[in-house]
Amino acid sequence: MVAGGGQLHALEAHGLGKRYKSRLWALRSVDWALPTGAITALVGPNGAGKSTLMKAWVGFERPTEGSVAVLGIDPWQDRRAAVIQVGYVAQTPSLYRELSADDHLALAQTLRRTFDRGLARRRLQQLGIPFDARPTELSGGQQAQLGLALALGTRAPVLLLDEPLASLDPLARREFLAVLVEAVREEGSTAVLSSHIITDVEAACGRVVVLSGGRKLLDATVPELIADHVIAPSLEELTPGRFVAAFEGPAGEPLILARRDGTVTEGLDRPATLEEVVIGFLAAGRSPAVGS
Ligand SMILES: Nc1ncnc2c1ncn2[C@@H]1O[C@H](COP(=O)(O)OP(=O)(O)O)[C@@H](O)[C@H]1O
Ligand SMILES: [Mg+2]
Repeated sequence: MVAGGGQLHALEAHGLGKRYKSRLWALRSVDWALPTGAITALVGPNGAGKSTLMKAWVGFERPTEGSVAVLGIDPWQDRRAAVIQVGYVAQTPSLYRELSADDHLALAQTLRRTFDRGLARRRLQQLGIPFDARPTELSGGQQAQLGLALALGTRAPVLLLDEPLASLDPLARREFLAVLVEAVREEGSTAVLSSHIITDVEAACGRVVVLSGGRKLLDATVPELIADHVIAPSLEELTPGRFVAAFEGPAGEPLILARRDGTVTEGLDRPATLEEVVIGFLAAGRSPAVGS
């Protein structure tokens, strides 16, 4: 989408800083411009600032510094206009104990005139959730899926899903992601999905943003990350500019993440997995002295 000659971004953050009452910064100097379309993974350890960032976009948290925008609208300038663009599922989905799944859809329709109850019902059916079930009769995973159906029913152009997979078993994760991928493709919407584990969301996401300690460490497409990085056999062979991080693999083996540069040790390098790239950047973020 193009407006006034410039590109309209689905989500933006400009010099975003957020400090809660404590003196620590939950977010610091975050600059982000996310183009419309596709699903982006927002990955980072607990406390990285993922929820805070999402809450800033829906106008629940006011930036201490800088600003955010949803499709060009700053939620602090015009909350209604910004929020109507967003289907948001909070990390702990807010469901009403007394209401059935279908009652939740009815309520959503009263709160938002444009809510597409038929679409949400179809998604519930797809996810195998009975219309008459109350949250107490649903598993944690099914509650998350009800949250997704509620978000998709908004037909909002931007979807913000905060750790929706955390309580899902592996099969339910796949179903959830399949429904999300299909919905994003059909509606042409933009989705951001947060998770602390990249392998959970890898299959569904075309782009990865890594957040750690409130700072953005990485923002690239999955093919770029795979093409641009390798696991190098040893530090000795590396030119200093190629080194990203040294960390331990699953069996405690030392791994060295390096930028691919097409020279010297190329023959000994092996391709890096997306998980290794993400872990490497998180490791580098923890020790800036040895990072890039
Ligand atoms: N309401 C709050 N009051 C004070 N500190 C908060 C609040 N919400 C989050 N924080 C702090 O901000 C940081 C980022 O939290 P959060 O955005 O929830 O991270 P994530 O979602 O990545 O786990 C953490 O240090 C957390 O303790
Ligand atoms: Mg969170």
